[in-house]
Amino acid sequence: MIKGIKGVKDILPEETPRWRVIEETARRWAERYGFKEIRIPIFEVTTLFARSIGTATDIVEKEMYTFPDRDGTSLTLRPEGTAGTVRAFIEHNRAADPLPQKYFYIGPMFRHERPQAGRLRQFHQFGVEFFGTQDSKADVDVIALLWRLLSDLSLPDLTLEINSLGTAADRAAYLPILVSFLKGRVGELCDNCRRRMETNPLRVLDCKVPGCRAATEEAPQLVAHLSPEAKNHFDDVLSTLAVLGIPWQLNPRLVRGLDYYCLTAFEITSTHLGAQNALGAGGRYDGLVETLGGPVMPAVGFAAGLERIVMMLPEQSVPTPQATVYVAAFGAGGIQAGARLLDALRLAGLSAHCDYRASTLKAHLRQADRSGCRFAVLLGDDEATSGSVVVRNMDSKAQETVALLDLPRHFLSLIKGF
Ligand code: HAM
Repeated sequence: MIKGIKGVKDILPEETPRWRVIEETARRWAERYGFKEIRIPIFEVTTLFARSIGTATDIVEKEMYTFPDRDGTSLTLRPEGTAGTVRAFIEHNRAADPLPQKYFYIGPMFRHERPQAGRLRQFHQFGVEFFGTQDSKADVDVIALLWRLLSDLSLPDLTLEINSLGTAADRAAYLPILVSFLKGRVGELCDNCRRRMETNPLRVLDCKVPGCRAATEEAPQLVAHLSPEAKNHFDDVLSTLAVLGIPWQLNPRLVRGLDYYCLTAFEITSTHLGAQNALGAGGRYDGLVETLGGPVMPAVGFAAGLERIVMMLPEQSVPTPQATVYVAAFGAGGIQAGARLLDALRLAGLSAHCDYRASTLKAHLRQADRSGCRFAVLLGDDEATSGSVVVRNMDSKAQETVALLDLPRHFLSLIKGF
């Protein structure tokens, strides 16, 4: 038997209603904030991701699905959506159109990580990217959109963790201070952090290894080394969040695993998720459009992991789709009339079912029960000839006689109140 790939999941019909609730709610919230859908390719040239996410990140160093195309070009399955959105923004010269521009996307992403609860190799993100304004209100807009969406889905115990990564100049001034602190503790750091100390020192701050956490407890904080410009921006973000009643927690260790960020960085976590506790995360990336060959273009965005939202979605947020009418057609004439009736009901917009294997009324009624239909139409040869059928309410078992041709209208008035 050929099996699916580790960390790559099927989403079976019983699970898709949960996904649809989330996707539809996400679209609704994105549209309320003025974001328009963009659909970007699932694979791109490798250099796009290497250049935007950063060559010294876990994603680029060890998690990308990279393969040569037939002509030798190196291609990569997208590990995230920001790089592709920025590439499309530049390629289609969207900067020439009125700004700001706001995009959202929903789709699969691919990272070769160690699979565990909430961490997959093919996972799905809902993300937004807001181009063209440096205003701190844009940061608040994207944070609020994610907060409102997750709250609307009734996800419990959410925490907004926030930090400022400063400007590029702030980081350049801060990194030697951090590195000199880390050098004093090098003996306490894990192998990975010792290497990171050279390649990407900020990442040492969010290492989950207890020894590294203890060693960096007293590390100098970037948020304490912000320029007045970055500090003002951060203060504005925090005070506007307060105006909106969105609570936040400063997390000076929050540095993000992608290198394109500056100023605001945030994650929304939940204590219900275990180790992989970020439902969504993002921040500002004012330099990325330019890095990829576009104009100077401030931007901010986030992406949320749909698998993690699915895991936390309360049962009552998912409506149970109800099949409506079961057509119990039997006998040669009944079966012919049944085929016509099923067609007429579906054309009228109703959900209508029949198990073609059942040949007796009893077998049909059993299937009607199993399928969860609210009504069954009993349609044998006699009913086909007389043109009137018995309609049974599957819950109350009450029966009534209705004209065959009248059935679509009859059910519509029962179900939709037409
Ligand atoms: P990220 O933090 O790498 O950011 O991913 C965002 C979210 O995707 C995470 O918080 C998590 O919910 C989900 N996620 C990430 N990896 C996995 C995985 N292996 N399995 C399941 N879920 C996962 C980004 O991707 C940025 N592009 C976000 C962004 C957009 N920043 C600005 N604009």
